[in-house]
Amino acid sequence: MKTPFHEKHILLGVTGSIAAYKAADLASKLAQAEAAVDVILTPAAVQFVAPLTFQSVTGRHCYTDADLWGTEGHVQHIGLARQADLLVIAPASANTLARLAHGLADNLLTVTALAARCELLVAPAMDGGMYAHPATQGNLGILKERGVTVVGPAEGHLASGLTGIGRMVDTGELMGQIRLLLARGGPLFGKKIVVTAGGTQEPIDPVRAVTNRSSGKQGFALAQAALDMGAEVTLIAGVSSLPAPVGAERLDVRTAEQMLNAVLARVSGADALVMAAAVADFRPTHPAEYKIKKENGIPEIRLERTPDILARVAAERTRGPRLVIGFAAESQDLLVNARSKLEAKKLDMIVANDISAADAGFAVDTNRVTFLFADGRVIELPLMTKLEVAYAVMDEVARRLTAGKP
Ligand code: CTP
Repeated sequence: MKTPFHEKHILLGVTGSIAAYKAADLASKLAQAEAAVDVILTPAAVQFVAPLTFQSVTGRHCYTDADLWGTEGHVQHIGLARQADLLVIAPASANTLARLAHGLADNLLTVTALAARCELLVAPAMDGGMYAHPATQGNLGILKERGVTVVGPAEGHLASGLTGIGRMVDTGELMGQIRLLLARGGPLFGKKIVVTAGGTQEPIDPVRAVTNRSSGKQGFALAQAALDMGAEVTLIAGVSSLPAPVGAERLDVRTAEQMLNAVLARVSGADALVMAAAVADFRPTHPAEYKIKKENGIPEIRLERTPDILARVAAERTRGPRLVIGFAAESQDLLVNARSKLEAKKLDMIVANDISAADAGFAVDTNRVTFLFADGRVIELPLMTKLEVAYAVMDEVARRLTAGKP
């Protein structure tokens, strides 16, 4: 499986900010994600971090101004700039932002930035007062207008000891934003995909609920896979503690009814709906307004059916997505049950998984699934990570949505 980072050339510029030490973590994560990372330190950055740090985590030479003035200096920047799929400057100091905005080229990083034709992402980091200064704001405005992606800064503790806006965003957010930029133009570019994930929770009283063991892992992986192929993604999440992938629009819902309303509101205009959520099939008919007290004896809880979301989408399909994919979590007669759900819910495809196996289904990171299609085709996949399963599903989505196009 190749994520958007795979074998991409990322040029990471590090400037003179105390956040420079965090750039080592970013370089390490990028290298672990299989990107080729070339790092350039400005003279001020070298005061904060050593080239050896970056060399050690990327396994590649770390460039400084010594390279600019060295024997190959006159061509160095052109070569680095030409190879890059993306230029990331993190942290970007107020000084470097000013240089970039005005086209100054007085160190290896700014010379390279001027020569580069790839996209540029900057993650500003500086003191709150410097960030708020009209000069910095003006420079950021110029860069944004030029199409530069500006990520952050975040609010929080600053090196000055004060609290304010000026911190570099964390590595996870930067990785997500870089991933989004690298995914642009993928096979689902321009497509709108709605994914549901996690279990729903149906109230018994204000503190208790009927729910299930779904973790949301497979659904969140589907959202990530769709983003990795360039789609615009809405993630309708039931109960899940997972962070949404960067770039997905997340809508949190609790009950099946709320999920139904969120799905119906979002599917018109969407290209595909992938229902990975474990929607509760039953809910208490009359949830108690106040906490049920044990002094009153053992309660009897009457249940009723929740709305079937996929059946409602099928009924309103004229406005709905071109492609509808369901999941079937089964503990027996996997393929027979999945095929009958595919037909009953009028799906284009169903992903069947046997939840009785220890290495598949709820909460674990792996899954073993079989795809069943409306035209009778069946594809049985081996044990995979949930992200690999998600890529396989989104490959099918891309194939169907782009079928017939050159
Ligand atoms: N689903 C739905 N609305 C519900 C219940 C399920 O849209 N009220 C969707 C799920 O998101 C999944 C598919 O239907 O994509 C199949 O879910 P599953 O619970 O396996 O099937 P059910 O139809 O609920 O049948 P059963 O629980 O009896 O196996």
